[in-house]
Order: sequence, then structure tokens, then C-alpha cells
Amino acid sequence: MQVSLVVAAGEDNAIGADNRLLWKLPNDMKFFKNLTWGMVVIMGRKTFASLGYKPLPGRMNIVITRDGSLFTPTPTLKIAGSLESALAVASEADCNEVFVIGGGEIYAMSIPHANTIYLTRVHSVFPQADTFFEFPESDFFRKQHNFFAADDKHAVDYTFEVWERVNTEV
Ligand SMILES: NC(=O)c1ccc[n+]([C@@H]2O[C@H](COP(=O)([O-])OP(=O)(O)OC[C@H]3O[C@@H](n4cnc5c(N)ncnc54)[C@H](OP(=O)(O)O)[C@@H]3O)[C@@H](O)[C@H]2O)c1
Repeated sequence: MQVSLVVAAGEDNAIGADNRLLWKLPNDMKFFKNLTWGMVVIMGRKTFASLGYKPLPGRMNIVITRDGSLFTPTPTLKIAGSLESALAVASEADCNEVFVIGGGEIYAMSIPHANTIYLTRVHSVFPQADTFFEFPESDFFRKQHNFFAADDKHAVDYTFEVWERVNTEV
């Protein structure tokens, strides 16, 4: 099973503050929806909280938490006590690719498992950020990058990047 990370980060690697995103980029939301629709997504409990504790529609959601009693599982909401257990649940769902969608803690533990990183680089810095995403760029190569300039709906420039692991034996 392919493990992919989907993340948007500032030039300073900022990804969030006060359990919220730092920008409004409708094109990035569209990209995220298209990429993950019909797929299995894995997220940390705090990111799930930032979604109002509502599973993303059209996807199987797996939430990682140390407190398994917090939620009642449903066909589209699964609870896992660790990343490894979340990956096992995804694997049982028979999917070819699973998407890790944040936040900071869960990305950090997922990087050793990641084959692909879909990174939206937001070309600004965010001094108010309290959560960050960093990955070892030398272990990956940037296979694609598409730049978009700011416009009336997007306050900042951004680039959609796809990074693939150089050594695929993960
Ligand atoms: N820019 C982006 O692309 C992006 C995407 C997603 C999220 N974000 C942002 O990221 C921030 C949230 O990230 P975060 O790092 O604070 O939280 P997080 O990674 O979403 O979730 C952290 C939670 O995961 C659970 N967890 C962590 N390690 C665990 C382990 N070893 N075993 C079991 N459970 C474990 C714990 O849940 P319990 O406390 O329930 O035990 C922990 O509180 C927000 O600001 C959000 O907006 C940004």
C-alpha cells in the first residue's frame, strides 16, 4: 500500500496556529478534495477536532488518538491508537493508496512510511504559526511543481509540488 502525505506549508514550514489553517486557498481545497475523494485518509485527533469532529465526506476517515473511547466508530470513521494501527486498518480496507492529512504530530511520525508527499508550498511566512511540517528533502525528489500567482481569491502565491521518495524501499 502506497502511503502519501498531503500538506500545505508556508516558506517557514508553518502549517497551522490555534488548531486552524493559516490561509484560505480555494484551489488548494479543491486539489485536496479531488486527490482524496473516495480514498482512505488518516489524521490526528486535533486535526479531526479542527473539522468539528465531523468525518470528511466521501472518504474513509481514520483518526489517531490515545483515547479510543472518544468516538463511536462508523463505516466511514475508524479510530486507531497508533499510526501503525491506522495503516493496518487502511490496509484491511483494501486500498492501494492511503493519504495522511495531518496535522504536525501525525505528519512527523508518517514521514518514514511516506512514498509520496503532495506539498502545496505557500509562498509567505506565518509568524503566528505554532505547528510546522518538515521533511528530509534529500530522501525525496521533486517530480512536479506548478506555480500559481495570487489572484482575487488567493491572497498569496503558491506551488503544487509532488515529491517522491528516492529510495523506494520503505
Ligand atoms: N496545512 C496543512 O496541510 C494542515 C493539515 C492538517 C492539519 N493542519 C494543522 O495542524 C494543526 C494540528 O496538528 P497537531 O500536531 O497539533 O495535531 P494532530 O497531529 O492533528 O493530532 C495530534 C493528536 O494525535 C494523537 N496522537 C499523536 N501521537 C499519537 C500516538 N503516538 N499514539 C496515539 N495517538 C497519538 C493525539 O490525540 P489525543 O490527544 O486524542 O490522544 C494527539 O493529541 C492544526 O493547526 C491544523 O489546522 C494543517
